[in-house]
Amino acid sequence: MNPVCFCQLYSDCVKRINYDVPYLSMDSRELFQRALKIFPKGVNSPVRFYEPYPVYFSRASGSRIFDVDGNEYLDFSMGFGANFAGYGNTEILEEIMEYLGNPLPEGVPTENEIVMGELIRNAVPSIEMMRFVNSGTESTMHAIRLARGYTGRKLILKMAGGFHGSHDYVLVEAGSGAMTFGIPSSRGIPEEVGKTVLVGKFNNVENIEDIFRRHGNDIAAVITEPVLGNMGVIPPEKDFLKFLREITTRYGSLLIFDEVITGFRFHYGAYQDLIGVRPDITTMGKIIGGGMPVGLFGGSEEIMKNISPSGNVYQSGTFSANPYTMASGIATLHFLKKSDYNPTIELARWIEDKLEPYKDLGVRVNRVYNMFTVFFSSHEVSDYESAKKCSIPMFTEFFKNLLRNGIYLSPGQFETSFIGMAHTPEEVEMAAFKMAYALEYDLNVSGNKIQ
Ligand SMILES: Cc1ncc(COP(=O)(O)O)c(C=O)c1O
Repeated sequence: MNPVCFCQLYSDCVKRINYDVPYLSMDSRELFQRALKIFPKGVNSPVRFYEPYPVYFSRASGSRIFDVDGNEYLDFSMGFGANFAGYGNTEILEEIMEYLGNPLPEGVPTENEIVMGELIRNAVPSIEMMRFVNSGTESTMHAIRLARGYTGRKLILKMAGGFHGSHDYVLVEAGSGAMTFGIPSSRGIPEEVGKTVLVGKFNNVENIEDIFRRHGNDIAAVITEPVLGNMGVIPPEKDFLKFLREITTRYGSLLIFDEVITGFRFHYGAYQDLIGVRPDITTMGKIIGGGMPVGLFGGSEEIMKNISPSGNVYQSGTFSANPYTMASGIATLHFLKKSDYNPTIELARWIEDKLEPYKDLGVRVNRVYNMFTVFFSSHEVSDYESAKKCSIPMFTEFFKNLLRNGIYLSPGQFETSFIGMAHTPEEVEMAAFKMAYALEYDLNVSGNKIQ
């Protein structure tokens, strides 16, 4: 797209903005007033809140979401990464309808769960057996209990800024909303529980070695996202994950990869197979449910046999392997299996390239395949410490500016944005220009170099 053409398009969008209201959506303000009376801060998950009130959405199609006033946004959050194939993907919907021809019973075994389980097992060799649950939170909670039950050890080592959901064992120096809202270690968690969780530094071999030297024989498992996605995107440094594999094996601890974000995102399978590191337990969620609530934890037969009723590590759930979720998951995986992931990666690279000139001005894009975060920092962002130094106010201004211009990033400096199968080159090119324009003219990063 040539710059003249872009300027015309940009000024067209600017014209439709009413600067008297913070966003395009007026009706959202009214809905928020109602929501405030029934939900804490008006929301059902903290990361959905932003000042002065979140935009309320009523419809989605492809890569687009529509607010309650009918305004259209290009969505780079895609349900915090839950949707990858595009909203209302007709091929997927048609297949789901085949499975849902009859009303399905719930809370009983069905063939759907076997079909879905076989798809996962065939795509991810380390997952010989698995259990389906209903969220990423549940998956890591059970994975941790399983690791403790299997090893007979108490301690868990997680990474500072790593996020694995909102149960007690992982809300210690956690990322995502816990970091944005300044409560990385939640109140309400008994001290005794906190004492069973050690916190290490991602990408820091010496730090992890030191922790293992002191506690190695008591560590049941290391749990980490292989690519951090909840401090914004932070890639693993070369061989860091191999090192985790090596040190956990040496001390008889398990390695848990939380692939709730990365599972089936970069190719048809898990991230672990792209880097050749086989964890003992894997957790997944988001994409594999095709928009329905889902999670899974799985690993070798030897480890998974410890789950009840074949073993004595208890786990259960009324909605586990819910047949509707399974139908949605099967259709989504069938679609992804024959899809080309390369365009999603190429388009994310465009955004990175377009914003590259702003790096010296303190705007840096961390990207891994098709995941990206725009950080406001003059330093490289490679761990918890460097992530904490980023400018949240600058990100917030950027986010809101884009929102007014019809682009929806994941709302938070420590969140990840995603390119999915439904994003088109034209959309992403336009979005990249709008981002550059916002940095240049609205945030004036050239005039106010970020420290
Ligand atoms: C890596 C990771 N693990 C676990 C979770 C928790 O998943 P859920 O929100 O489905 O409980 C998340 C949520 O964003 C996540 O990013």
